[in-house]
Amino acid sequence: MTKPDAEIVHFDNVGLRYGADKEVLTDISFTLYPGCFYFLTGASGAGKSSLLRLLYLAQRPSRGLIRMFGTDAITLPRERLPGFRRRIGVVFQDFRLVPHLSAFDNVALPLRVAGVSEREIARPVADMLDWVGLGDRQHARPATLSGGEQQRVAIARAVIARPDMLVADEPTGNVDPDMAMKLMRLFESLNRLGTTVVVATHDVHLIGKVEGSLLMRLDKGRLADPTGALRYPPRRDASTELAAP
Ligand SMILES: Nc1ncnc2c1ncn2[C@@H]1O[C@H](COP(=O)(O)OP(=O)(O)O)[C@@H](O)[C@H]1O
Ligand SMILES: [Mg+2]
Repeated sequence: MTKPDAEIVHFDNVGLRYGADKEVLTDISFTLYPGCFYFLTGASGAGKSSLLRLLYLAQRPSRGLIRMFGTDAITLPRERLPGFRRRIGVVFQDFRLVPHLSAFDNVALPLRVAGVSEREIARPVADMLDWVGLGDRQHARPATLSGGEQQRVAIARAVIARPDMLVADEPTGNVDPDMAMKLMRLFESLNRLGTTVVVATHDVHLIGKVEGSLLMRLDKGRLADPTGALRYPPRRDASTELAAP
């Protein structure tokens, strides 16, 4: 367990440009603290997805420093990258489920890749699918599931390996408002177990629906810190109960 005031991620003057174009992210500095729930907002094109890609190590910055789990993430040797990525769960707006695999096999994928034995996979995957309310859809292929169901499979897959940090890019973009609230409750329960959660959304209605959440706002590639949350570590107690969503 990390100390409550330790950092999980630290960005210092990070900039990102694609090719020779001007920077899409400029002078980005912030700290994420363990066990906190962050919303990343900003208009379309503000740079939310780009910032998240830096966070889940799918993209290198053009300049600046990124420290993650206490290690310099930019000079991280190649062979340590998979181990790092396993500590980060990612939920994409377009789900990115493997179409020919069942819900069960999609959720089991991260465990299989990590070399967990089949004996140790069956129970946790079934429990996780129960938890997201899909216990009776284990054998369904993604194409036969609704948008909300697919997103819940994607969330189950992102958290099955118990990541330290969950990163979700517009996770409610393709579901109705009722399902959006249910997904937020899922993220909240995870967060209560101690997982740091970062949700990018341009939906202002979602923000404020999660008590104690912290706000980061991007405006044309620059980060605003309206509540000062990114400078001071808030104190929160993580419960150990897996609450029903
Ligand atoms: N792979 C890419 N190549 C070139 N430009 C990109 C790429 N991805 C995003 N951009 C540009 O970067 C800016 C920020 O985009 P993005 O991070 O997707 O913002 P948001 O998620 O807030 O809508 C936009 O101007 C977008 O066109
Ligand atoms: Mg985006």
